[in-house]
Amino acid sequence: MWDVHKVRGDFPILSREVNGKPLVYLDNGASAQKPQVVIDAVTHAYAHEYANVHRGLHTLSNIATEKYEAVRGIIARFLGVADQNQIVLNSGTTEGINMVAHSWAMPRLQAGDEIVLSVMEHHANIVPWHFLRERQGVVLKWVDIEPDGSLDIERIIDAIGPKTKLLAISHLSNVLGTKVDVKTLCTAARERGVATMIDGSQAAVHMPVNLDDMGCDFYAVTGHKLYGPSGSGAIYVNKDRFPEMRPFLGGGDMIKEVSRDAVIYNDPPIKFEAGTPGIVQTIGLGVALEYLMGLGMDNVAAYEDQLRDYAQGRLSGLNWLQVQGNAPDKGAIFSFTLDGAAHAHDISTILDKKGVAVRAGQHCTGPLMEHLGLNATCRASFGLYNTEGEVDTLIDALELARDLFGDG
Ligand code: ALA
Repeated sequence: MWDVHKVRGDFPILSREVNGKPLVYLDNGASAQKPQVVIDAVTHAYAHEYANVHRGLHTLSNIATEKYEAVRGIIARFLGVADQNQIVLNSGTTEGINMVAHSWAMPRLQAGDEIVLSVMEHHANIVPWHFLRERQGVVLKWVDIEPDGSLDIERIIDAIGPKTKLLAISHLSNVLGTKVDVKTLCTAARERGVATMIDGSQAAVHMPVNLDDMGCDFYAVTGHKLYGPSGSGAIYVNKDRFPEMRPFLGGGDMIKEVSRDAVIYNDPPIKFEAGTPGIVQTIGLGVALEYLMGLGMDNVAAYEDQLRDYAQGRLSGLNWLQVQGNAPDKGAIFSFTLDGAAHAHDISTILDKKGVAVRAGQHCTGPLMEHLGLNATCRASFGLYNTEGEVDTLIDALELARDLFGDG
């Protein structure tokens, strides 16, 4: 039985007020709040166990290295990956996808080769592929979403042609909340010799993920959305892809030997981890993932489904508000516009006066906004600590915005 009030007690920031009102934090899609265990772990690491990793032979460096390296195994467990050496630690999804673009795609794709992606991708899963279009003549093949915001898997599979080398698809849309059956896509892509880059930035926060079962080639996650520190993250790389990849960033750690005339690289995954990493951030991420696994991702998903149903029921009853995306399988993320001339920024400012934090704008999804014919939306994105009472507060605040700005 999910005890949301107990869970809320783990997150100190949730007891603060904003503009004289209790904080209602509905911007989890942008970044999630941190439980006390993560805050304590970060403080403890800096106060008692900090040094650089992989470098020193002294006690503190050994402790920091041990704690940092243990996180690789924690992430592997969290993502359902048996071999932890398929986890490359990094600063988050953007770095992970850029690594795939530079390490794997740039040396392999040629002019005329295709990358298939959906119009609802986040810029982090678009712009790195534009680099290949601009620099190498690679063709980006866009697949539209359906009117309800779902992604028709068959349309993606049909878009795969003899020149397609990569599918780049989000597991869960950061704007529409649409969940995508990426396992079916990965199987179809593999059968056709096409690699798969799955953006798991949003999905891994809201549901159990098992990558050994999914069978993708690359899966990127970001720590700050997973209730961990910003500047932490990881990308899963199917070990069969490592021999096809050249290093992305060069520097310390990713090498075995460097001379004037030659360099011998370290073995993967370290080969793809140059320079001093986010040591404490990564240690904090490990604690956040242990916290999530302690709650149970099945339980998190079941609770958030309940919250989604409640929010969907209440929001769909407002005939002056348009929710974008009502896919049958969606997470608790709601983007919406209001009747009348109110801009999303104005609406979010009114909500903020009531203590309600939402995101307003394009949400780093230019092609999706173009597809929807919108300049901006407001987005309420829920997390494991939100409540039905907070949905009610959101709607009260929206009614105020409608009265101030709307047609009615
Ligand atoms: N990707 C983050 C969002 O959707 C920043 O808000």
